[in-house]
Amino acid sequence: MKRPFSLSPRLAAVAELVPQGTRLADVGTDHGRLPVWLIQHGVVERAVASDLRPGPLSRARALAERWAVADRISFRLCDGLSGIGSEEARTVTVAGMGGETIAEILAAAPWTGESGHRYILQPMSGLDGLRRYLSGHGFAIRRETLVEEGETLYVVLLAEPGEMPPLTVGEIWVGRQSRGEDGPLRERYLEQELGKLRRAAEGLSRTERAEDQAKRARYEAAAEEVERMREEWRQWQA
Ligand SMILES: C[S@@+](CC[C@H](N)C(=O)[O-])C[C@H]1O[C@@H](n2cnc3c(N)ncnc32)[C@H](O)[C@@H]1O
Repeated sequence: MKRPFSLSPRLAAVAELVPQGTRLADVGTDHGRLPVWLIQHGVVERAVASDLRPGPLSRARALAERWAVADRISFRLCDGLSGIGSEEARTVTVAGMGGETIAEILAAAPWTGESGHRYILQPMSGLDGLRRYLSGHGFAIRRETLVEEGETLYVVLLAEPGEMPPLTVGEIWVGRQSRGEDGPLRERYLEQELGKLRRAAEGLSRTERAEDQAKRARYEAAAEEVERMREEWRQWQA
C-alpha cells in the first residue's frame, strides 16, 4: 500500500495560504509535492506546475501519476511564469528559490501587477531584496508567516498587487510587525536577523573602500531599527 505523504512544515505553511478553489500555478515545482497535495486534499481542482528543467518536471509528473492526479495538472517546462497565462493562475506559489530569482520571475511576467492575483512566496535567501522589490513595484505584502523546519526559520510572504506604506529600512530586513499579531517565532527571527546585520557590518569595518563603508552604514542603520523593533515586540508580548 502507498504511504500517504505529508508536506514538510515549510511547504505546509505555503499550502495554508492557498485559498479553497483557486486556480493555482506552482512555479519551480520540482518534486511536485505542493500541487499534488493540494489536489489530493481538495483545496484546488487543478493546477499548473512549472519548472525550468525537464528533470524536476518529470519528477513532478511521476508523483502526480503515482497519486492518480496527473490529468488534473498541466506540466509546463518554462522559465518562471513565461509559459503561464494570467487567467490560469489566480494564486501563484514560488517556494524554495532565492529572493532575487523570485523578484525576477515576478518582474518578467507582464500580468503579475494585475489585480486579482495573489502570490505566496517562500524565499530561501535575499528576503531584503524581495521585500524591496515588492514594495517598490506596486505589491502590498499582506502577511508574513514564520515557520520552523529543523533548526531553520523560513518566511512565507503573501503579496498582492496593491498599495502599502513604504517599508522602512528595518522592515525591509525583518518585515512589518503589528501589535496583537500572533508570532511565536518572531522574537527568535528578530534576534537572528539582528545578528546577521551586526556581523555583516562588522565584516566591513576593516575596509576603507567608500562603497563598503556606505554598505556598512546601511547595515548599521538597519540593525539599529531592528533592535528597536525587537524591544517593541518584547513590550507587546509582556
Ligand atoms: C529548490 S527547488 C524548490 C522546489 C519546491 N518549490 C519546494 O519549495 O520544495 C527549486 C526549483 O525551482 C526551479 N527553478 C529555478 N529557477 C526557475 C525559474 N526561473 N523558473 C522555473 N523554475 C525554476 C529549479 O529547477 C528547481 O526545480
